[in-house]
Amino acid sequence: MTKTNYIKIEGRVSVSAPSNIAIVKYWGKKDIQIPENPSISFSLNNAITQTSIQYKRIPLQDIFSYDFAFENKTNKAFEKKLVTFFNRIENKLPWLKSFYLNIQSSNTFPHSSGIASSASSYAALAIALAEIHTQITGEKLSMPIISEMARLGSGSACRSVYGAWNTWGETPIINGSSNKYAQPLKTKTHPNFQNIHDSILLVSKKEKSVSSTVGHQLMENHPYKEGRIRQAHANMKLITEAIEQGNWTSFTEITELEALSLHGLMMSSTPSYCLLEPNSLAIINKIRDFRLETNIDLCFTIDAGPNIHVLYPESNKKQVQEFIDGDLRKFCSDNTVIHDYIGLGPKIN
Ligand code: DP6
Repeated sequence: MTKTNYIKIEGRVSVSAPSNIAIVKYWGKKDIQIPENPSISFSLNNAITQTSIQYKRIPLQDIFSYDFAFENKTNKAFEKKLVTFFNRIENKLPWLKSFYLNIQSSNTFPHSSGIASSASSYAALAIALAEIHTQITGEKLSMPIISEMARLGSGSACRSVYGAWNTWGETPIINGSSNKYAQPLKTKTHPNFQNIHDSILLVSKKEKSVSSTVGHQLMENHPYKEGRIRQAHANMKLITEAIEQGNWTSFTEITELEALSLHGLMMSSTPSYCLLEPNSLAIINKIRDFRLETNIDLCFTIDAGPNIHVLYPESNKKQVQEFIDGDLRKFCSDNTVIHDYIGLGPKIN
């Protein structure tokens, strides 16, 4: 594109994008961020990354020209990762080396909260860059392309460019499903799952001992790899049926199995990791006992760390939050619990 083709040569965009919590977990990848198995998640409402980018036309050069600050501080580690990201998306944004970008980013959730920030960060970046693309070229990028760009930053980010329930990865049960990008869940969402809550119990605020990038690598030669891929496909079918039918019993069974399978895979990897802590197990047992005693719908999921996400429908909010306060909060670091729920997705401000 030549200079004269740009509609606008400077401006500013501001975007917010949510984190998401996976129910069927993406675990293992190949090539450039291609998942080994399909996954499904919902976007959160309160756990958000806010990103604003000021852009200005400069003469075309060989390198990307940008500054990056996270919570007003330069962040060299992330700045480096951005070069890889820009290289991967440059074919979709051919103007990237002709503009200087000043990127400012911040999260609404604490750094040590155990909420994955790469999903919301790369979703916000992809949406902001797509918006700049529209402002300077007049061309609107499709949601699959935006989701694909987010994926090239962090796999789970491709599901964060939308609100509510989203799937990612090829599966015969979803027409048009793709390994390249996520899409909103195609089947109907029963009211039981339209307002699902996620209370995050912070068992530990320490940095994760295994990053998800390392975690995905552990799957490459894992003895249970083929079985895991089969399991994820079967669970996608069962979970989408449960969400459509409003079946919390089935949802609970699959959700907890997915969480514990993820940790089982890490424990049986070489090298092996055990990320669950005594208090994680105490919470899991308490949740299962409470469910048996009361018949109240609630279940747990866990990402690649020790923190426990308690999931429940809006109708059980009062009882479950009382249970958390009375019986579970004491197992959390500084008694910290973050209450969140399903959200509407990114916003361009
Ligand atoms: C356990 O998306 O963080 O949260 O693609 O290497 O950036 P990269 O990994 P990432 O992995 C997320 C793993 C998970 C499960 C999930 O969100 O599906």
